[in-house]
Amino acid sequence: MLIVANWKAYVDSKEKAKKLYAAAKRLTPRADIVLAMPLPYLGLFGGATGAVALGAQDVSVTTGGAQTGEVTAAVLGDIGARYVIVGHSERRAQGETDIEILEKVRRALAHKLTPILCIGESERDEEARYLGVVRGQLAAVFGELSQKERLSLVVAYEPVWAIGKTAAESIMPSDLGEMVLYIRKVLGEYLPGKSALEVPILYGGSAEPENARGLAGGSGVDGFLVGHASVDPVIFTALVKAVS
Ligand code: PGA
Repeated sequence: MLIVANWKAYVDSKEKAKKLYAAAKRLTPRADIVLAMPLPYLGLFGGATGAVALGAQDVSVTTGGAQTGEVTAAVLGDIGARYVIVGHSERRAQGETDIEILEKVRRALAHKLTPILCIGESERDEEARYLGVVRGQLAAVFGELSQKERLSLVVAYEPVWAIGKTAAESIMPSDLGEMVLYIRKVLGEYLPGKSALEVPILYGGSAEPENARGLAGGSGVDGFLVGHASVDPVIFTALVKAVS
């Protein structure tokens, strides 16, 4: 299992960051763990080449130069990040477009960072138009990349309606199973044969210790992108143990 902890802006002390890092380190024999933390904290662990991988929560579309406030993929790679979340719904809500998301993916790949591409509908409707939303978000990126680039991505399915809630309000395991199948089918249109199976699919949206095992079992997901349940060492440990 690949477990990506998305600390968002929940963590605001070095001490807490270090505690969470230590907890993640203890869990690494059980799962592959990525800590996607606020940028300055990456510097605390950037030199570490340990089992816990580091990630950023966003990356600039720019390549550098006179771009005040931007953090480029080159800088992220230099400080030791290996992953970067791209297209999170909280960034899309700020106006990030599919075109920018594609550019960010390209920037990340150019610096050997693995992009974690977030997709997911805002709401569900009886006519299943949400499937078209998910397809469109995948097509906007996978449709523009080479075969080799496509195989370098991780996809995180994060229905916006399930983010930041509770386990009880999260997606049902059977619905997640259907979405994983659907995403694999769409990926299959861009990747021949069995190679579509090589792209890991994560689930995010109120994954908590209470529901994670159920979501992991039988749905076909390869891991989780965990928000609020990733910023308490005890809760995060329980979640990782539940799925591994
Ligand atoms: P959540 O966030 O686990 O707090 O719902 C997940 C995410 O937005 O990545």
